[in-house]
Amino acid sequence: MRKKIVAGNWKMNLSKEEAIQLYKEIDAKRKTISLKSTLIVFPPFIYLDCLKSFNLDIEIGVQNFYPEEKGAFTGEVSVSQIKNMGATYTLIGHSERRMYFHENHEFLKLKVEAALKHGLHIVFCCGEPLEIREENTQNKYVKKQLVESLFHLSEENFKKITVAYEPIWAIGTGKTASSSQAEEMHAAIRGFISDKYSKNVAENCSILYGGSCNPTNAAELFACENVDGGLIGGASLKSEDFLKIANSF
Ligand code: 13P
Repeated sequence: MRKKIVAGNWKMNLSKEEAIQLYKEIDAKRKTISLKSTLIVFPPFIYLDCLKSFNLDIEIGVQNFYPEEKGAFTGEVSVSQIKNMGATYTLIGHSERRMYFHENHEFLKLKVEAALKHGLHIVFCCGEPLEIREENTQNKYVKKQLVESLFHLSEENFKKITVAYEPIWAIGTGKTASSSQAEEMHAAIRGFISDKYSKNVAENCSILYGGSCNPTNAAELFACENVDGGLIGGASLKSEDFLKIANSF
């Protein structure tokens, strides 16, 4: 059975005190319910060390890193430094990194390699902008993102990847993909993986949905056969909303 995952991408939000409070609230509230999903949070990495020190049973990941081992890369953080701080997951390929920081397919491929080398679990984000959706070429667009940055991997390494489909037009806009739009794309992604690797690899790959997912629409999205959870932005900043979403299976 595929792993169900609900992950919170905190992006560049929260003071240290707010981050601690949110993390502790998530832990306290999750103990009052029986969740079917694994929880992961992706805080700004300056809070990693502090959050890890509470030793709570919630996976922590990073939103970004630089794929070199070490050296003169002012302002950057390496995978080994991240691992050293206790992170176990990383996002790669988020549309905000592709868009604002010009991370292209080739660079994302280097990030994928670096993360795998150090044993970080990867949540690889893909998704199309509005103009591509309007042209109805979103499947081709998303396939290219997977082919260019992931499909060079061996089957053994690909099995370590979680995919997150995040249509850019739905991120932070309040305009979520309908469950049928999400299901259609998730099924297509599973098909691409099956064609490249095998049906078995595809069946075991968790594919998360992201983009204005909230406590009201999560249950309908998560009920889709090929939707295995969510990558949550805005709604992950409130423990109650995040837990309601995580409890929507
Ligand atoms: P929102 O949930 O705020 O739309 O953000 C989604 C996202 O980008 C998660 O990575």
